[in-house]
Amino acid sequence: MKRYIGVLMLFLLYQCRSDSGKATSEVEYYSALGDSITKVAFQTLSGALKSALQQGGIENAFAVCNRKALRLTDSLSHVFHVKLKRTAHKIRNEANAPDAWEKSVIQRYLAMQKEGKPLKPIVEKDQTGKWRYAKPILVKPQCLMCHGEVSPQVKALLAKYYPNDQATGFTEGELRGIWSIQFP
Ligand code: HEC
Repeated sequence: MKRYIGVLMLFLLYQCRSDSGKATSEVEYYSALGDSITKVAFQTLSGALKSALQQGGIENAFAVCNRKALRLTDSLSHVFHVKLKRTAHKIRNEANAPDAWEKSVIQRYLAMQKEGKPLKPIVEKDQTGKWRYAKPILVKPQCLMCHGEVSPQVKALLAKYYPNDQATGFTEGELRGIWSIQFP
């Protein structure tokens, strides 16, 4: 009997170790993949924003963001075979509204930020068993003209393009939203 218990213990130990080993490597895999995809996505979007601002000022930037931001994240989703999006607790475009998992992640980030903790990417399985990746998006000085205390010109543009906008009044360093990836 004792011998069997010993074998059983060993078996359980091995199971635990190999299970957690597998999970760790999956988390590492999706973290690295998520980091690379969001890096490319950030560069693509901020490049498009910069050139739109240079070419035709803030009014043009609004028109370009309105037409292109979602198209760009959609085409990157296609390239990488994932679902990539930007979402937030206070959204500008309703098409970017968060799903249940994204909402819970944003709430966790907001709580961490309140406690002064650093915000790092989160990789885990959602309720449906799909691997998910989230990365915080923080407000930088160059975001404030469209997401901080905005000018009358920006107010008018918001009324035109996003009448239900909730994404102003942010301050530098605040959580603006997240990059979110759903893996197949
Ligand atoms: C020229 C104005 C402008 C600037 C500058 C700007 N944004 Fe935006 N932002 C927009 C517009 C317009 C949208 C809506 C895009 C769409 O229709 O998908 C948006 C959408 C977003 C979203 C998607 C979620 C949502 O609310 O719909 C995030 C996240 C975001 N911006 C973060 C930032 C950050 C971070 C910066 C600074 C690095 C920044 N923005 C700079 C205009 C701007």
